[in-house]
Parts: sequence; C-alpha cells; structure tokens
Amino acid sequence: MTRQDLTKLTAIFDHYPTDAGSLIGVLQDIQREFHYLPREAMTKTAETLGVPLSKVYSVATFYNAFSLTPRGDTIVRVCKGTACHIKGADLLLDQLESGLGIKPGETTEDMKYTLEVVNCVGACAMAPVMIVNNKYHGNVACNRALKLVKKD
Ligand code: FES
Repeated sequence: MTRQDLTKLTAIFDHYPTDAGSLIGVLQDIQREFHYLPREAMTKTAETLGVPLSKVYSVATFYNAFSLTPRGDTIVRVCKGTACHIKGADLLLDQLESGLGIKPGETTEDMKYTLEVVNCVGACAMAPVMIVNNKYHGNVACNRALKLVKKD
C-alpha cells in the first residue's frame, strides 16, 4: 500500500472505536474506498481492532459485499434467477461479455468494469434485470445493455 493508502486507512480507523464490534463497518469502508480488501489493510485492521487475522478473513469471505481481489469502478451484476433466465438473461450476459471483453467474475484491465452474475434480486416483474453500481435496470433489451453500463 502507498503512503496515501495508509493515510486513507488511518482515516477509516479514526471513525470507529478500536474493538471487534467495529470490524464489519471498517471492512465496509475499506471496500468502498479501495473497491476490494487489500491484504495489508486486513492485517492492519486485525492489529488495530485487536481481533485475530483469521476472524477478519472469515468475515471478509463470508459476505458477498466484500472482495479479496481488486474490482472495477463500475460493478455490473446480471441476474440469472429463473424469471430473468426465461426473459433472456443469457443473451444479455453474452452482450456484456463481448462488449466489455470479460467473463463473469472478471475485471477489465483498465479497472473500469467488473462483471458478476447474481441470483434472484427480488425484482422478477422487471426481468431481465441488470444492476449497475446498485442502480437497478429492468426489462433490459440486450442491445441496450452495454449502453446503459457505459452511461452509468
Ligand atoms: S429472477 Fe431476476 S430478479 Fe428475480
């Protein structure tokens, strides 16, 4: 981590009491700041909060909101639940894969986009559904998908 990264990390720690109860909040802030949980940040979190590193890893790997690998600035999620599957989620995903040049779980080299597949997100009436940085898009036509992603 750079000196600037360490300053950001310190600023995050300063917002929380230094105990185990702050663990999830601290990790959420680190994820938001760095778009993933760098290994060094998790080590410093364990030291600062006085919790075992194994506990930090166990929380970091339990929640889908956390990533241990770098992710892009824009997270694109395509729902592949039953309703979305029936309404063409596979075609939608194909368009995004070829347009972004990545497969689900991957990030573009310029760190702009990460593509993910999720299960039903509770918006079946709008199937097929795509979520771009937490903004829901429903009834997405495959030929509009890439445009929506680049616009957000
Ligand atoms: S199956 Fe996609 S929102 Fe329910």
